[in-house]
Amino acid sequence: MNAARKPLLAANWKMNKTPEEALAFWREFSGRISGETGRVEVVICPPYPALPALQGTDLRARGVYLGAQNVHWESRGAFTGEVSPGMLRAVGCSHVIVGHSERRAYFGESDEVVKRKLRAALEEGMTPILCVGETLEQRTAGRAEEVVAAQLTAALEGLDTGRAARVVVAYEPVWAIGTGRSAAARDAGEMAVAVRRRLRELAGPAAEEIRILYGGSVAPDNFARFLAEAEVDGGLVGTASLRPESFFALVASAANAATAQAGEGEAQ
Ligand code: PGA
Repeated sequence: MNAARKPLLAANWKMNKTPEEALAFWREFSGRISGETGRVEVVICPPYPALPALQGTDLRARGVYLGAQNVHWESRGAFTGEVSPGMLRAVGCSHVIVGHSERRAYFGESDEVVKRKLRAALEEGMTPILCVGETLEQRTAGRAEEVVAAQLTAALEGLDTGRAARVVVAYEPVWAIGTGRSAAARDAGEMAVAVRRRLRELAGPAAEEIRILYGGSVAPDNFARFLAEAEVDGGLVGTASLRPESFFALVASAANAATAQAGEGEAQ
């Protein structure tokens, strides 16, 4: 982590939880959080139908943000089954995940589609969480950095620096997602360094403001190790975000790391 960037922790619930279950989560989770949300940007990304239910709670007053897991790039029209950025805004979303590897792999999202979604989200004033990451095959072939650099270039090339600074990048090695087998913190840290390097080439000084998250089997017993890496600014969490107690443990871990960072900064 770096004291200059606010840590971000996003819950990606994927296709889990009805509106009622989302409210039950919120009741328990909100009972645990206190000052942590001042130090950590906490985002909950439920399935679409649960967004209005959560919007109707005290979530924003408690410093927690709402995000979506996907978005279409057009603002309206004949696109059956799709949801526009403006519609997401209308149900309280400030953040949106784009290019998650499950969408790339199962729903055929190309780099071009991911780029359009990212731009549409920025246009609407939202914070896109851009997911990048290599497969096991690509890592074994020694191509991880090259693959991730190409995904970043495809999504971000030509973006003006003001907008680029608002992007969040989630580095998620595909083989670590939902497998219980996270990357080694040092490997994730090295990839985050490579991501930052590419971001500098693509976005210049704005790259220093971009948060880089690690995702892939993040859990309460491994998260602190990722946060100890200089270029890792938080996490994108699936499985461990589904239970209020484990998601809260991650928030607390990030808040503690942020406090320690701020202390170090003052001591210097
Ligand atoms: P996981 O999912 O934490 O269950 O590995 C992460 C993600 O897909 O964003």
